[in-house]
Amino acid sequence: MHLRHLRLLDFRSWPLLELDLEPGVTTLIGRNGHGKTNVLEAIGVLASLRSHRVAGDAPMIRTGAGTALVGALAHNAGRELTVELALNSGKANRARLNTSPCRRLSDILGVVQSVLFAPEDLALVRGEPAERRRVLDELMVQRRPSLGGDLTEYSSVLRQRTALLKSASGAMRRGRSEESAAVLDTLDVWDGRLAELGARLVAGRIDLLRQLRPLVVDAYRGLAPESRPADLAYRFRVADTPDESELTDPELVEAVLLAELGRRRRDEIDRGMSLVGPHRDDLLLSLGEEPAKGFASHGETWSFALALRLGSLELFRADGAEPVLLLDDVFAELDRHRRAALADVAAGVEQVLITAAVGEDVPAGLRGVRHDVVMTGEGRDRHSAMTLSRPRDDEGDDDENTDTESGDPT
Ligand SMILES: Nc1ncnc2c1ncn2[C@@H]1O[C@H](COP(=O)(O)OP(=O)(O)OP(=O)(O)O)[C@@H](O)[C@H]1O
Ligand SMILES: [Mg+2]
Repeated sequence: MHLRHLRLLDFRSWPLLELDLEPGVTTLIGRNGHGKTNVLEAIGVLASLRSHRVAGDAPMIRTGAGTALVGALAHNAGRELTVELALNSGKANRARLNTSPCRRLSDILGVVQSVLFAPEDLALVRGEPAERRRVLDELMVQRRPSLGGDLTEYSSVLRQRTALLKSASGAMRRGRSEESAAVLDTLDVWDGRLAELGARLVAGRIDLLRQLRPLVVDAYRGLAPESRPADLAYRFRVADTPDESELTDPELVEAVLLAELGRRRRDEIDRGMSLVGPHRDDLLLSLGEEPAKGFASHGETWSFALALRLGSLELFRADGAEPVLLLDDVFAELDRHRRAALADVAAGVEQVLITAAVGEDVPAGLRGVRHDVVMTGEGRDRHSAMTLSRPRDDEGDDDENTDTESGDPT
């Protein structure tokens, strides 16, 4: 698929952006903090309903505005669809498909598909399990939108169940047996719900991982052929972990979760915490015999994070989809070999958007349309704008005058 048009209204630093897009490569060039990533973030939000940078929506709404709008005209296998998402401060967000309001936001999932690679992705390797769970879940939901509802409901069940555990723990401490018996009954109901939803999520993640794993392993080998082989595995945190091949069966996972909930109930009540379920699991990344986290070098970490994204791209393709590839400020960080490997992949993708502070950071082989992004105005009127658009083939030597903050222009 590709985007033919992108429209931003009061999205972060953009009061208004109307950007015509074409298949092939588009680069957004501009100095630090001028609003390039904001554009890629907006596309990512249309694709996954969440930002790759922030947990809530508020920071994406332009300071002083009440609503941010992201709209796109998407072209997919001969069909064109308009999709629009309104992020509202203080009330529910809204979505439209071909100008008709959607009942649920998730109705727009799948219209825009994207794979984004950004410096923040280093946290996939180095960061906490939550970062890796988020990547798995995002990818899972983009490919199977129905699981998005399960994910939202799971979070809500988890919140309510945790509140109940805290009150159970209080009732028991105060020796109120009637009250604690009632709480325990209610807890049984929540356990059932947690196990049912949790099982679908665990099964969905493991099913995803079985398909993703060989693609990531291959992508890593392509990027870092001299390194030890990369591998990934799901860490299902229950006492008796069944064989991974059985874990794609939600009924079996549900039974395992229920048994584990029974086994750990005392502990959960004592600590007032939900200790069982997919919110405790992890995606283990390893290089050779060692976990990547804590052992991988800087370059290996970059390669692994990039391989996870390129593997995701290949997974979409294996499904017959062609997501937009969003590369945020990544070429400057890569050595020559990895730049070339990434440029090779990008050259074969239907649509790629690249941001860079300096034009020369983008490999010469990736010709396309270039837009210059600048921040203008003062105070409340400070905002991003596009000043110049031209085919990259027309580029002269004027990049030499651009302020460079990265040193070596090779
Ligand atoms: N909600 C908002 N309202 C107004 N401006 C915002 C908002 N959120 C972010 N900005 C502005 O957007 C700018 C950052 O934009 P962005 O992250 O896209 O920069 P960038 O061009 O990618 O920079 P870099 O090259 O450093 O990555 C900052 O100047 C920030 O003040
Ligand atoms: Mg940026």
